[in-house]
Amino acid sequence: MLPKKAVIPVAGLGTRFLPATKVIPKEMLTVVDRPTIQYIVEEVVASGIKEVVLVTASGKSAIEDHFDYSFELETFLAQKGKLDLLNQVRQISNLIEVVSVRQKRPLGLGHAVHVTEQVVGDQPFVVCLGDDLVEAEEPCVYQMLKVFEKYQEAVVAVQEVAEEEVERYGIAEGEEVEPGVYRVKRLVEKPKPGTTSSRLAVIGRYILRPEIYDCLSRTLPGVGGEIQLTDALDILRKERGLYAYKFKGRRFDAGDKLGFLQATVHYALDHPELGGQFREYLKEIARQLD
Ligand code: G1P
Repeated sequence: MLPKKAVIPVAGLGTRFLPATKVIPKEMLTVVDRPTIQYIVEEVVASGIKEVVLVTASGKSAIEDHFDYSFELETFLAQKGKLDLLNQVRQISNLIEVVSVRQKRPLGLGHAVHVTEQVVGDQPFVVCLGDDLVEAEEPCVYQMLKVFEKYQEAVVAVQEVAEEEVERYGIAEGEEVEPGVYRVKRLVEKPKPGTTSSRLAVIGRYILRPEIYDCLSRTLPGVGGEIQLTDALDILRKERGLYAYKFKGRRFDAGDKLGFLQATVHYALDHPELGGQFREYLKEIARQLD
């Protein structure tokens, strides 16, 4: 059985992006012409998944509105004959079915996933973190689904990071069983420098089995006093197995100001209408900087 639902936790406060995120959810910050959450949803949809479970908190209703019909706006656009724009906003609403679950207390990513248990039930599911944008020829989630289909165990997406960045991520130690696929021997959240030899960092894409919920119920607060998904996954690894997959593509940390700027430049260069002009502009800027 392949996952039919994708869980996207969006309850975070976005403190890394203040003051922009004081009122606007960080997931609604725009990269070129779409809010970051839309890139994630488009990746999920392109991977064959149409049901999205948002884990929300107060102040995040703009995200649900973004994927809902907007009667006023659509009527206005139809009356004005702006059919292109009408199609664009309709397409967004038609992308997915959305269910929202509230995370009543900010107890960590593991807790955010745990609150979806009733909605997801006894089936495998995808988790995508809103901060991580992955630009890839074949959607990252789709690449991971193929690994899941083969091994039938949970899969985390990883990328190699620099030694000094290891302490910012969940880190997977393991043995390579085929090119780019590792059987995980240990998963550790934000390891202290020098405590792991691996530089395989988990990025915000996971394919999980329903057994993770039971593991989460046995997971104690970890790094930062939070219930860490990484710790629950390490229990799942011991009890069943876990794979890490080095995805093909480029990941941006859009929850960080520099990562967000890099994503903006990259997606703007790839934009079918703006790309050409933007490239010329960047060349001009680069000449001035020399
Ligand atoms: C979370 C996870 C971490 C993972 C990271 C990827 O950390 O806990 O394991 O490596 O996302 O972006 P956070 O960025 O929320 O500190």
